[in-house]
This record gives sequence, structure tokens and C-alpha cells, in this order.
Amino acid sequence: MPKYRIALMPGDGIGNDVMDAAKIVLEKIDLDAEYVPADIGWEFWCKEGDPLPQRTLETLKTCDCALFAAITSKPKEEAEAELVLELQGKGLIYRSPIVRLRQAFDLYVNLRPCKAFKGNPLNYRDDVDLVVFRENTQGLYAGVEFHPLPEEVRATLEAHSPRMAAFEGVPSEDIAVSCRIFTRAGCRRIVRRAFEYARTHGYPTVTVVEKPNVIRETSGLMVREARKIAAEYPEIEMWETNVDAMAMWMVKNPQDYGVMVSSNMFGDIVSDLAAQLVGGLGFASSGNIGDKFAVFEPTHGSAPKYAGLYKANPTAMLLAVKLMLDWLGETETAQKLQQAIADTIAEGSVRTYDLGGSNTTLEVAQAVAERL
Ligand code: NAI
Ligand code: MG
Repeated sequence: MPKYRIALMPGDGIGNDVMDAAKIVLEKIDLDAEYVPADIGWEFWCKEGDPLPQRTLETLKTCDCALFAAITSKPKEEAEAELVLELQGKGLIYRSPIVRLRQAFDLYVNLRPCKAFKGNPLNYRDDVDLVVFRENTQGLYAGVEFHPLPEEVRATLEAHSPRMAAFEGVPSEDIAVSCRIFTRAGCRRIVRRAFEYARTHGYPTVTVVEKPNVIRETSGLMVREARKIAAEYPEIEMWETNVDAMAMWMVKNPQDYGVMVSSNMFGDIVSDLAAQLVGGLGFASSGNIGDKFAVFEPTHGSAPKYAGLYKANPTAMLLAVKLMLDWLGETETAQKLQQAIADTIAEGSVRTYDLGGSNTTLEVAQAVAERL
């Protein structure tokens, strides 16, 4: 029996293109692994009313980890309209399958390393090396939302918060509420993972990115817990910044920062900014990591206009493979892959359109594979 069982979920659009690129590299690496295809994405929403079918969840339960490429998501009304006729009007609601996966498998870490590779013409600066730890299961993405605001919920809020007086006289059907839910344990575990990473990878600082001066209870809880955890890591300095100021500092002096940790929504925004500093979507990979299972993905979406054209840059997907190898403990192979990616970028003769080249997705993967 192979040592690892790894699910492959290409999803939609260029997800298929970049997964084909990943397969070229995986074949060359020759990991002792069995690769299991699994269904996810728009096609399954339209045909079955579920973009993450139960059979996929069952498959994932038998695997060590998964590689996911990208899916298409659309707003509520559009999603309903694209369902096959017999599924319409049944009250089916589209929910992002990747958010569901994170919650179903408690993948509480979203790890997003953003390192500038030498010779990448898209680098904002060549010395950027940011690693964002984004809390991945709670906060504003917990999905506890109301519109209209139910009367019982409204009455409770009014009874417990004088701030609700500001909305007096606004009809409940004209109020939408999304709850930002943090737990102490949720804050502690993401902060701890950030500090552990800083310790094992030699980063001198961890920056906690929140907004406790305004969002006192949720951001406040995160920062208070972070201070306690920081005390256990005396060799690492903890910096506290407000998320709005952080956006500014990241443009002004990104080279001053290393490991960053934040909640779900802020972490999402900050990590996209970090990604753009090192070349943008074609270079941004992430790991959704829990205690026992993990899903690795490029950060980009399905880019429908390039679907099937093999124009997309596979680097983000290949870096996701690298993160997976690290997580599996195949550190040497992970390092080799990263070096092959870095050398391909630095050498510069095989490039996709976003880097000003005209090579295909698969040619870039081939160039990386040849260096392995
Ligand atoms: P997107 O990431 O799919 O593409 C935006 C643009 O970025 C593309 O048009 C293309 O110009 C560029 N781009 C993206 N990936 C690239 C790559 N590998 N190489 C070179 N250029 C690349 O985002 P968009 O257009 O906002 O969304 C398209 C669909 O993808 C939507 O349905 C959206 O909901 C979904 N999406 C899915 C995500 C996921 O699967 N995790 C994440 C983001 C969006
Ligand atoms: Mg994002």
C-alpha cells in the first residue's frame, strides 16, 4: 500500500489547467502516494444541488490530505437560476464548498506564505518574505447571518446593547446582520501556530493584525490572548498593529515584517495584499491546516475567461504542492521543488502571459519538473 493517500480536486475553470500542471510535477517527484480524484465545484451544484457532494466528504475522510485547485462561486440568486430545472424552487442555498471544507474538517489555520522569488518581474520589492496565519473557521465567515433580522434576535440585542438604539425605527427587513464570532480557544490556537512557525523558521517577530481600539470584544479577545501566548516565546517579539494601518505599512515597508496573524476576514484581506507584493494571484498558495487533515490550494479562483486555454500561471498551484510536501514531512522534496520553481523563475525563459511570456501552463510545469 502506498505511504500516502492524497485527494485531487481540480474543480472548475483554470482549476483543471493548473491541476494538470501539478500532476506533471507530482509524477516527476514520484512520491509514494495514491492519488484519488474527487468531485467539487459548480458543475455539481448545477447538476446535483451540492458543489461539495457527500461522496467527496467520504473520500476525503479516507485521505491524508487533499490538493484543491479552484472553483466558481456565484451570488445566491444567480446560483439558484443555474440549477437544473427539477432542483429549482426547493430552497437549495449555495454555500462556498471551500469554506464548508474548512469548517467540516476544522482546518483552522490558513497558512499563506508570500515570498518574493528572485527575477520575478512582478515583485513589488525583491526582499519581501511574509507569512500570514489567517484564522480559518470563525469570525465573520462563521456564517451566522440574518436578513431580515428576526424579531427575537432583535429584541435580545436591544435588551443587551444600548448601541442598538442607533437603529431604532429601521424596519427589521431593512437590517442585515453578520456575526463576528471569536472563541478564546480559536484565538489561542491560531496565534500559537503563528508563534511556533516563527520559532521553527527563525522569524524574529509575530505581528498581530486586528482592530481592538474599535472592535473591542472580538479583536480585543484576540490581542489579549496573543499577549499571553507571546510570553511563552521570549525570543520572538510580538508587534500589534491595526488592520488599516497594516495595509499602509505593508505598502511602505513590507520588508520589515515576517509572520503575521489575524482573524478570518482581516487575514483574507491582508494575505491578498501580501500576495500582490510578490507577483499576485499566479504566485499565491495556501494551506488549510487542521490537527489531522489539510487541504492545499492556490489562492486564485477559476478565472473562467482562461478556462481550458492553459494560459494560467501554475506557480501558485506548484507552491501549494510544496506546502503539502512540507506538511507531510517530505521536507527535502519540498525544498527541491521550491528551488526548481525559483530557478525556473530566475532563469526566465519559460513564462506564462502574466510575466510577459507566451508559454503554456504545462510548459512551465515541464520546466520545473526538468529541474527536479
Ligand atoms: P480569479 O482568481 O479567478 O481571477 C481573477 C483574474 O486574475 C483572472 O481573470 C486572471 O486575469 C488572473 N489570474 C487568476 N489566476 C491566475 C493564474 N494562475 N495565472 C495568471 N493569472 C491569473 O478571480 P475572479 O475572476 O474574481 O473569480 C472567478 C471565479 O472564481 C468566481 O466564480 C469566484 O467566485 C471564484 N473564486 C474561487 C476561489 C477559490 O476557488 N478558492 C477564490 C477566488 C475566486
Ligand atoms: Mg481571498
